[in-house]
Amino acid sequence: MDFSIKAFNTKNAIAEHKSSCIAVGVYEGGKLTQAAKALDQHGALTSALKSGDITGKPGTTLMVHPASGPAKRILLVGLGTQDGVTERNFISAVQAVARVFTTLGAVDGMLALPLDGVKGRDAHWALRAEVIALRESIFRADGLKSKKDDNTGGVRKVTIVVEANDVATKRTLSQSVALANGMDLAKTLGNLPPNICTPTYLADTAKKIAREFSLGVEVLDRKQLEALKMGSFLSVTNGSDQPPKFIVLKHLGGKPKEAPIVLVGKGITFDTGGISLKPGSGMDEMKYDMCGAASVLGTLRAVGEMALPLNVIGVIPACENMPSGRATRPGDIVTSMSGQTIEILNTDAEGRLILCDALTYAERFKPACVIDIATLTGACVTALGHHNTGLFTRHDDAHDALAKQLIAAGKYANDTAWRMPVEDAYQEQLKSNFADIANIGGPPGGSITAACFLERFTKQYTWAHLDIAGTAWKSGAAKGATGRPVPLLTTFLLDRLQH
Ligand code: BES
Ligand code: MN
Ligand code: ZN
Repeated sequence: MDFSIKAFNTKNAIAEHKSSCIAVGVYEGGKLTQAAKALDQHGALTSALKSGDITGKPGTTLMVHPASGPAKRILLVGLGTQDGVTERNFISAVQAVARVFTTLGAVDGMLALPLDGVKGRDAHWALRAEVIALRESIFRADGLKSKKDDNTGGVRKVTIVVEANDVATKRTLSQSVALANGMDLAKTLGNLPPNICTPTYLADTAKKIAREFSLGVEVLDRKQLEALKMGSFLSVTNGSDQPPKFIVLKHLGGKPKEAPIVLVGKGITFDTGGISLKPGSGMDEMKYDMCGAASVLGTLRAVGEMALPLNVIGVIPACENMPSGRATRPGDIVTSMSGQTIEILNTDAEGRLILCDALTYAERFKPACVIDIATLTGACVTALGHHNTGLFTRHDDAHDALAKQLIAAGKYANDTAWRMPVEDAYQEQLKSNFADIANIGGPPGGSITAACFLERFTKQYTWAHLDIAGTAWKSGAAKGATGRPVPLLTTFLLDRLQH
């Protein structure tokens, strides 16, 4: 989908502009927005309103075919109440337009919603929300279908009407497209089947991104991981015939001495549970267990395309968790790269086992902060459902500040996170009689004890953990990866530029 922006100087100009379809807003109570009024020269919109076919309820639409005028079609879309359109209402209006656009017999469309009327947000926010919603509407997961889903028709070129066609607005547009590209990558990787999206495939994808956006990339293989003494990570790969890969992707756009932000993504390309085998029903969804890794690749793709003046490093431990005669057993004790010994009481709690070594590895970058992203626990889904990502950090001033930034970024990006506790009381549950730490803490507070496990490997820096088990993909009829939390992470990084 091609995007361009256009600014009109006088009210009349928009009315004189030729287009196959222009979408404009209606407020509740049947009030036209400014752009809509300008297009209503011959009263086509007023009479549409009079018909009662559209009232302005958020997300409702009505297509009007004016008898005359330069616009062939005018799409009315409801924005809700006029005084302060809510973020939710604005987004549902754009989604409604996007849905209609995909069915049009025209390739170009215009979007002329009031960008500066959203409560608490500015026109840059609204422009980004439009691009993201439009791009989401055309995303298809039919790459492996012999007959493609019906996605050939519809609007392909979108002109967004803006207040001013200035440098800042142009930058917002290109950054929004870069963000959408990052989300697309994360979604595509997440949806790929586990026989294609292997650790090697993730490594090859990282190399491709590196080539395209001039990032640094390094892929460590089993021998190098053995030399680094990543005994915990390697224990998870024991049962798999797919070679493990440890991916390091570097976007060094900031000052050479500036401490980098490190993103660590869980890259389990399939999680059977190992010897602690998962039940069969719905096990296919464990192909999504690499969505943390996919979000790191998507975010690095986005910041690479944006050429952000920041140092960002992605670290991805990638492997499969499979049962076999060589697989790790419950009861096995392994030594992590940090030197801490771990009693593996459940081989299905493997995410923390690969992440802990990656978190130790991250120390070498002397990071400004480290954020790990993982589909870590079913317990997080129980706690927060599918709306919020679980956010875990220690509780001191530096970590409170980081948590605040991540929460704000999530709100801005409509990709929210909710803070959970990390406290010593929970650490007690990880006691082992035979090793320094056990890899499970029992059913109570399962997402918290998982975070507490990781916490023990992050003492050297400021750290946050994002549990995306409930937010990275959808089940049921709309089954598919969501691209989350690429918007949260990318927004967080963009916000760092202003500091
Ligand atoms: N990848 C899963 C977490 C998961 C489960 C994500 C369901 C999304 C939906 C993780 O590796 C796992 O299996 N966790 C276990 C931990 C338990 C054994 C302590 C879980 O959540 O059941
Ligand atoms: Mn597991
Ligand atoms: Zn897992």
